[in-house]
Amino acid sequence: MSNSPLLDELSLRALTGLRQTPKRLPSMYFYDDEGSRLFQRIMCLPGYYLTEAEREILAHQWPKLLDAFTPDGRPFELIELGSGDGSKTLELCAAFDKTGVDFSYVPVDISPHALGSLLRAFDQRLPGLRVQARTGDYFSGWRQPGNGQRQIVMFMGSNLGNMPLDEARAFLNQIRSHMQEGDGLLLGLDLMKNPHTLLAAYNDPEGVTAAFNLNLLRRLNRELGMNFKLDRFSHYACYSPLDGTARSFLVSLDKQTVRSTRVDLQFQFEPGETIYTEQSQKYSPAMIRQLAQDSGFAPKLHLQDGQGRYCVSFWQAIKPEMVRHMVPNASQA
Ligand code: TRP
Repeated sequence: MSNSPLLDELSLRALTGLRQTPKRLPSMYFYDDEGSRLFQRIMCLPGYYLTEAEREILAHQWPKLLDAFTPDGRPFELIELGSGDGSKTLELCAAFDKTGVDFSYVPVDISPHALGSLLRAFDQRLPGLRVQARTGDYFSGWRQPGNGQRQIVMFMGSNLGNMPLDEARAFLNQIRSHMQEGDGLLLGLDLMKNPHTLLAAYNDPEGVTAAFNLNLLRRLNRELGMNFKLDRFSHYACYSPLDGTARSFLVSLDKQTVRSTRVDLQFQFEPGETIYTEQSQKYSPAMIRQLAQDSGFAPKLHLQDGQGRYCVSFWQAIKPEMVRHMVPNASQA
């Protein structure tokens, strides 16, 4: 691949993944324009309860959140990592805004297109709210508010679950390292539940999730001149109650060879061979407490939807030395 200096980092990661055994693709690769459109459709599927459950929690329980964000009513800054077009957070901000509390909103996303729609929607609905959008990397433009305001970081949509547990822990530690003591972190996390319910969320009869997964191959064909035959691969999803992980794969239906016109590489597939494309971790309340403790936070609020499917968890950044003093298995309390 050294003869292809024009490949961007994501394409390089995709090619590297396809050369591994077992083959895999980076989940960031899902979200090109078509992938983002398909994901919007997934969020509306009857079986994909995550979006609806998170929306319900924010819509019904926002006063508890506001009270946790600013117990003393002081101004604060709400930073959302991976805001997308902000349509879910708009409702939350509108509810906060009505109370007259002083806060600003800092959406951060890799898609300038999504942030453009966000700014238009916020400007129309909440013209008085200070919104400072940041495009790109979650951490590079991070700054402390000059006036000592509290920062509240949001990472919603169970996006943390798309990272393997040790990567999630490292990511949370990285967030913590940008925060001051007393700042807050709000996470949307999917909970362990009946495996049938979980599997249905990643394997819809409408075939939208299959199309979303297969779109990875379409993107490789377009961006890397590959010749994947989309009808020779199929979507496979499974959930293991042992570790609480839903996983998605693409399965090769034949023995086949895929080539690229851009790079001098070819990939052999055996019949039934898989490409691992995504994991979605589901958590127990004890796992959530442990994660908080492992990354320098104290869990403060655990809000669930009426059916107990999903949780919005609020953590407060604590002094690093406090972490060592916490009882090792306080998470079982
Ligand atoms: N963040 C989403 C989730 O974990 C992503 C997702 C939904 C997804 N459906 C998928 C990823 C199907 C791969 C395949 O729920």
